[in-house]
Amino acid sequence: MKHGVAVSNGTAALHLALRVLDIGDGDNVLVPSLTFIAAANCVTYTGATPLFVDSHPDYWCIEPKAVMKKVTDKTRAIILVHLYGHPCDINPILEIARSKNLYVIEDCAEAHGAEYGGRRVGSFGDVSCFSFYGNKIITTGEGGMCLTNNEELADKMRMLKDHGMNPRKRYWHDVIGFNYRMTNLQAALGVAQLEKIERLVNRKREIARIYTGALEGTEGIVHSPEMPWAKSSYWFYSILVKPEIRDRVMTYLDHRGIETRPFFYPVHKLPPYRDDLELPVAEQLSARGMNLPSGPNITDDELNHVATAVHDALQLQH
Ligand SMILES: Cc1ncc(COP(=O)(O)O)c(C=O)c1O
Repeated sequence: MKHGVAVSNGTAALHLALRVLDIGDGDNVLVPSLTFIAAANCVTYTGATPLFVDSHPDYWCIEPKAVMKKVTDKTRAIILVHLYGHPCDINPILEIARSKNLYVIEDCAEAHGAEYGGRRVGSFGDVSCFSFYGNKIITTGEGGMCLTNNEELADKMRMLKDHGMNPRKRYWHDVIGFNYRMTNLQAALGVAQLEKIERLVNRKREIARIYTGALEGTEGIVHSPEMPWAKSSYWFYSILVKPEIRDRVMTYLDHRGIETRPFFYPVHKLPPYRDDLELPVAEQLSARGMNLPSGPNITDDELNHVATAVHDALQLQH
């Protein structure tokens, strides 16, 4: 993308993106339910309403057909979240967006370096947002960035993130802005991290390859997908097990010194957004999924140790 606007974190990036696209009171924005809560919250910060969309069972990101069904006159934008490193199916969403005159915001917080049809995620949206939080593929501790090809939007974001100050008239504020600046210290770290991004993404892919090989033949699991049109950056390598055993498997692994994380709760089931909506795929994935240790410094022996423990856990449950 032509322009990158560094900000203080990924949530600020999403909020800024929505603000420069003039999304606010009375508008609806489509967001996947199965993701970290930040996207929904940022829609709410603007005064707009997040409408939650179900996931695709095969690759766990927002389901294009379900998007189509949710579009109304009030819909202004779609936030695509490339979950756990796997890209969304972007083309059908771009088609919907074009035909219904909607903006597309990419949330690439978890998918640095992932590709869709041979092209990097983050290069498709009207604005694309990144997080560089400590657990992301490249990090500045806390940090984020908005990308866009639209110079006007980029200028507006630069102004809004710096208290809305007019860039040509010091201490003159045309609008109410935010302090969403990234510090120079964080930026220095980010520049150094960027030098390592290929190595880090390659290691993530290697980790996925080793896990997939080591877990082959373990019955009762589904592992991180990679669709033919996708190149995942495998932020987290994940597995799905039966919902009734998921927590027991995690406890077993914990006893063997292996930390795992459950999948996100579907945001439409969390207290601030709870409603009667049923999104069966997101709900099932959430109940079945766990992330395995996937940090780039994990050794191959440790990966095999985790895979063996997963195998043992599954054997015990059957
Ligand atoms: C998909 C997604 N979007 C946004 C965020 C928010 O980013 P930050 O924590 O940098 O505000 C996160 C998590 O950190 C995330 O996983």
